[in-house]
Amino acid sequence: ANLPSVASDLLGWYDRHARELPWRAPPGTPPPDPYRVWLSEVMLQQTQVATVRPHFERWVARWPDFARLAAADDAEVMAAWAGLGYYARARNLLKGARAIVSDHGGRLPDSEAALRTIPGIGDYTAAAIAAIAFGRRAVVVDANVERVVARLAAIDTPLPAAKPAIRAATDAITPDAHAGDFAQAMMDLGSTICTTRAPRCLLCPIARHCRALAAGVPDRFPVKPTK
Ligand code: ADE
Repeated sequence: ANLPSVASDLLGWYDRHARELPWRAPPGTPPPDPYRVWLSEVMLQQTQVATVRPHFERWVARWPDFARLAAADDAEVMAAWAGLGYYARARNLLKGARAIVSDHGGRLPDSEAALRTIPGIGDYTAAAIAAIAFGRRAVVVDANVERVVARLAAIDTPLPAAKPAIRAATDAITPDAHAGDFAQAMMDLGSTICTTRAPRCLLCPIARHCRALAAGVPDRFPVKPTK
């Protein structure tokens, strides 16, 4: 199949520049352990990569799989979450691990719809896990992806009304294969190059596709809500 050229340009860049993170498999290699993908995505929902990294390493050393986490003591899990914030996520994580063990035989389901039934897994996280852990084609949109795509397509509707258009534009460039690498490449691009302020367009692997750059105003998108 012929990849849309945005995707092939981005995947080529990711092969060379992917951030090495402990929950990732190198680009083009088989997907990482779904437990690690699930855990990292829940931790990354509201906490930055640099903060998550050491917590993630300690966590998987202590509770290496769903069964061990499901059997953990509630108070120990809550204590181990310290530093990550938003404690409701820790409670949901434990609920999620227990549901995966009791209702899914200790393995994550691989479809977005089934993933969304698990405590702590919402639309974004279900799509991210389906793509990254299971290689399923899924449209993965977080705040970084939102910014990249709003610029790429010069979507001038203000947020949050722009969200459906951003999702449709993301869908249109998401490849059938390598959806996990594609999603993580978009996240890396958004956090290292297509940054909120002063985007580094000279380094951007998809600059030639970018309508906002063509118009000379990359940092004007996404358009903020008018207060
Ligand atoms: N933010 C959320 N998920 C991420 C991932 N898999 N890689 C980098 N940043 C992320």
